[in-house]
Amino acid sequence: MVTIKDVAERAKVSITTVSHVINKTRYVSDELTERVFQAMEELNYRPNTLARSLRSGRTRTIGLVIPDISNLFFAEISRKIEDKGFEFGYSVILCNTDDDLSKEDSYINVLLEKQVDGIIFISAGGSEANLNKPLDFGIPVVVADRDVSGARSDVVLLDNRKGGYDAVKYLIEMNHRRIGCISGPSKVTPSAQRLEGYKEALLDQSISIDNSLIEPGDFRFESGEQAMRKLLSLGDPPTAVFACNDMMALGAMRAINDFRKKIPGDISIIGFDNIPISKSVYPALTTMAQPIKEMADLVVELLIERIKFQQIQKRTKEGEPEYQRIILKADLIQRESCRFIN
Ligand code: RIB
Repeated sequence: MVTIKDVAERAKVSITTVSHVINKTRYVSDELTERVFQAMEELNYRPNTLARSLRSGRTRTIGLVIPDISNLFFAEISRKIEDKGFEFGYSVILCNTDDDLSKEDSYINVLLEKQVDGIIFISAGGSEANLNKPLDFGIPVVVADRDVSGARSDVVLLDNRKGGYDAVKYLIEMNHRRIGCISGPSKVTPSAQRLEGYKEALLDQSISIDNSLIEPGDFRFESGEQAMRKLLSLGDPPTAVFACNDMMALGAMRAINDFRKKIPGDISIIGFDNIPISKSVYPALTTMAQPIKEMADLVVELLIERIKFQQIQKRTKEGEPEYQRIILKADLIQRESCRFIN
């Protein structure tokens, strides 16, 4: 088997120099770097990352736990997190929990076994138990998107209540008064808070809450379709609907078409997330845009800061910076799926 010693001899440098080139732990001139990579290529040498990790105590990997990779919001934020992690020289291990807490627990165990340097955690449903396990092992965690009570970590969230409020205020300004809501899973904070914003916006304009206009969904396409079917089957259907995420809004649009209704002629619809496909459907979906790239960049930067701090301080935690709680905001993206009514 080719060793680092063979590479050093072939490149006519020291073993230390080869190690610094591979681990980027110290500056090495372009000429020597080129000689090392040339020797590695000629000898078909592959660094033993496991041995390196055991020596340095770092794997330069971060775990990313998400609830549903089939949801295009999570696909988009996962990609942005992976891009940012790569920029910092980290690999990302993606764990899709399917909104299942026991699967979430299993994946946390896998990440601990893989000795990841840190974890970005988007909760399946508000269980701090799975979040606390890595923290108890001294693995830094950053909570993103879905709040977890008592989180001993940095947290980056969206102001979901304001986002829901602004979406419904926009519909009211278009003269809608019978406004439906397709909510997401109540066990996660984004949906519960967006529904709060919906109700607050109506009450602020002295519009009473009609619970028959609120249909529960699960953030998936099919639940949006089913919920919209129920709303359209009401004796007095809504003239506009706020869907608490774009995937359900797309499902709702499918149901509206099946009912031979026009968007926005017969009914207006607004979503939440601004997933890339929302601008490509017809009519293009008006939505509340989440700052996905900003959130992804922030969570990676916060996590790497914690990892670096921990590598220096080890477990003393002495002088560890206070945990940050950063709240971002959603912006209205006006497209074609909403209109004024008389
Ligand atoms: O579309 C999935 C939803 O769940 C998004 O709005 C995001 O906030 C996540 O929590």
